[in-house]
Amino acid sequence: MKHPARKAPPAILALDEQAAVRRAQRVDSIVELIGGTPLIRLANLEPRPGVEIWAKAEFMNPGGSVKDRPALQMIRDGIASGRLTPDKTIIDSTSGNTGVAYSLVGSALGFKVALVMPQNVSAARKQITQAYGTELVFSSPMEGSDGAIQLVRELVAKDPSRYFYPDQYSNDSNPRAHYLGTGAEILAALGDRVTHFVAGIGTTGTVMGTGRRLKESGRAVEVIAVEPEDALHGLEGLKHMASSIVPGIWHPNECVDRILPMPTEEAWDAADRIAHEEGLFVGHSSGAAVAGVLRVAREVPPGREACLVTVLCDRGDRYFTPLKWERHYEW
Ligand SMILES: Cc1ncc(COP(=O)(O)O)c(C=O)c1O
Repeated sequence: MKHPARKAPPAILALDEQAAVRRAQRVDSIVELIGGTPLIRLANLEPRPGVEIWAKAEFMNPGGSVKDRPALQMIRDGIASGRLTPDKTIIDSTSGNTGVAYSLVGSALGFKVALVMPQNVSAARKQITQAYGTELVFSSPMEGSDGAIQLVRELVAKDPSRYFYPDQYSNDSNPRAHYLGTGAEILAALGDRVTHFVAGIGTTGTVMGTGRRLKESGRAVEVIAVEPEDALHGLEGLKHMASSIVPGIWHPNECVDRILPMPTEEAWDAADRIAHEEGLFVGHSSGAAVAGVLRVAREVPPGREACLVTVLCDRGDRYFTPLKWERHYEW
């Protein structure tokens, strides 16, 4: 891939060599490293001077995705409310990043975790969560993620005292994680300069929680949700609302100004572009968010300044398959 003509390397190269030493820290548990992700400027994608694009690097959470935040918040709030006690198993339906996040937080805090997922999810999905000691329960491969939701509800209804069922789709702690974390962090880093926030929607926790926080900031921030254009799409992590079980936490009238339908190809192309032009190898839902933020950036009228923020949910290598933990000797 040939790089487009580029200005001279930016001032970034005048690196402060002590910066990494200052950033180095010690923590008592990996869960302390959840949140506090950096905002990375996508300078090479900006359409013109005066229109800044920033991306919240959620792939830098320890579980590798944006879902570490809500998983920790739901578990924290579950403990605080007395609904999650040491004898219970955390159970939810997810084959994706939330499953990794529950597994990581559960393991670090000493809780058992069980995940319900369709039988046909990739081997890598099963192996990553099992690596943390998580138990897997399989739902019908014919019924997709909605079938997994139905099965987890049945399991919990049969034996309610055994489980803590956070139910990320209808748990207010999910958007709260982004209200308290993602949104507050964006404001702390960019202040009232933020003019637009663009995020993909899966459970909708990211856009709802961050959107609410930004709307309270005083400045008129436009909040834009990106959803797959069709029911059949290739943007893992995102939901096409019209053909899905609508999440209970999705209240777009509260803080979402508009919804951008995103074709899979446009999102995939944007994911390639940020890997090639910004050194950011991210998953396809991040590609959708970047494609969305680029469309909005191009709409900014000439002469007007803008500061747009989007979210990079996870890294591209999460989608490599197979991803087996191999034990072998090198001779
Ligand atoms: C890769 C990826 N992208 C985007 C999202 C959507 O985030 P949210 O559930 O907060 O809407 C998810 C959530 O599961 C995800 O795993």
